[in-house]
Amino acid sequence: MLSFYEIIEKKKKGLPLEREEIQLWIDGVVQKSIPPEQSAALLMAICLKGMTEQEAATLTLCMASSGAVTDRSSVKGILLDKHSTGGVSDSTTLVLLPALAAAGYYSLKASGKGLGHTGGTVDKLASIPHLPVTLSSEERIRLTLLCGFSVTAASEDLAPADKILYDLRDRTATVDSIPLIAASVMSKKLAGGSDVILLDVKYGSGAFMKTKEQALTLAKMMISIGENAGRKTACLLSSMNQPLSPYVGCNAEMRAVIGVLRGEESDLNKVSRELFVRLTELASGRKDGGAQYDALIASGAALQSLRAYVQAAGGDVGVIDAPERLADAPVSREICAEASGYVNEINCQSVGMAAAVLGGGRVRAGDSIDHGAGVQYLLRVGDYVNKGDRIATLYTSDENKLAHAEALIKGSFALTEDRPEEQPLFYAFVSKDGITYYTEE
Ligand code: URA
Repeated sequence: MLSFYEIIEKKKKGLPLEREEIQLWIDGVVQKSIPPEQSAALLMAICLKGMTEQEAATLTLCMASSGAVTDRSSVKGILLDKHSTGGVSDSTTLVLLPALAAAGYYSLKASGKGLGHTGGTVDKLASIPHLPVTLSSEERIRLTLLCGFSVTAASEDLAPADKILYDLRDRTATVDSIPLIAASVMSKKLAGGSDVILLDVKYGSGAFMKTKEQALTLAKMMISIGENAGRKTACLLSSMNQPLSPYVGCNAEMRAVIGVLRGEESDLNKVSRELFVRLTELASGRKDGGAQYDALIASGAALQSLRAYVQAAGGDVGVIDAPERLADAPVSREICAEASGYVNEINCQSVGMAAAVLGGGRVRAGDSIDHGAGVQYLLRVGDYVNKGDRIATLYTSDENKLAHAEALIKGSFALTEDRPEEQPLFYAFVSKDGITYYTEE
């Protein structure tokens, strides 16, 4: 068996690692017998030299079994899971799970906390006063059996190797490696115990995958890992070139979720609807998911499902009917356009970072969240703005944070004289059966 030093050397030369070598690494990460600088060196070598599909699958399985595997035996129905690779104003999980539950499906969701420009589902859900988001396994099962779904912050023992490595990757510029992202996402999905997994793979300026081609490569790798592990796995490839709704920040995004469940239109609704259609077809073969979703929203059944969950979990159910109580932070600043023109492109990452800098997200892991902080961002690609128009409003509890966020928002878009082409929201749906494109290639 090679020493860990030799394993780093091997990957540095671009050679594939054996199963025992990957297992040695992951065991050493969890037991802390391999120092962080050696893991960081291997991460960088993987980032630069890549991994075969076989290596990525092995890494995933080693990471998935580095901690406890969720015991879902008391949930007799099919368990569905949806995961986004990370975006801005992406609160689709909080629309989708109540809608799925209203349609009779089960989900047992463990979700990460937001970091950097990407928001976290549990942070948004925690906007609801008194609603617990760190649940024991018994409470997760109780709520899922009672309400059809539960959402908890991923526990410390769900794929602990991923937590340690993700933190290292975040500090060593090694997050954006396709095999490392695939193993990170899929290790948590496999340990989470769901039968059907739909991954919303984001591409564009606010995503880790900047191009559709990278997103497709990541999707194929995750599908191969999931299917080989016996889980039905598919990917929706959707755009993250602009926020999914004008609201970025926990309270504001929770208000947007309630708005969609009450029938408001936005890209947040379009993506949630498409995820519902794809996931229900994967789970049951039904092809009428769109009509079913529309009916669940129109009848109020999906909203009622969220209300029932908040009540059963001990949260303040009053905010579901009075979402304006989820207030913005007290210090605000309006940002106005300094020139006129068509919005040609949006740097979605800058919009997400502005919300984080204001206190609405985590600039560093471990930062606390100001639920009222964030950005109302009014620009959409293709809009015409006149000099002096309000383009955004910043909200924070700390005046000193405004200047940095203002600079990010002012640099977050480009104007042109000509109207740009419309950007499709969806690119492709990928499963083990092949690729369906939404627009002609
Ligand atoms: N989301 C994850 O869970 N892991 C990554 O590496 C990137 C996005």
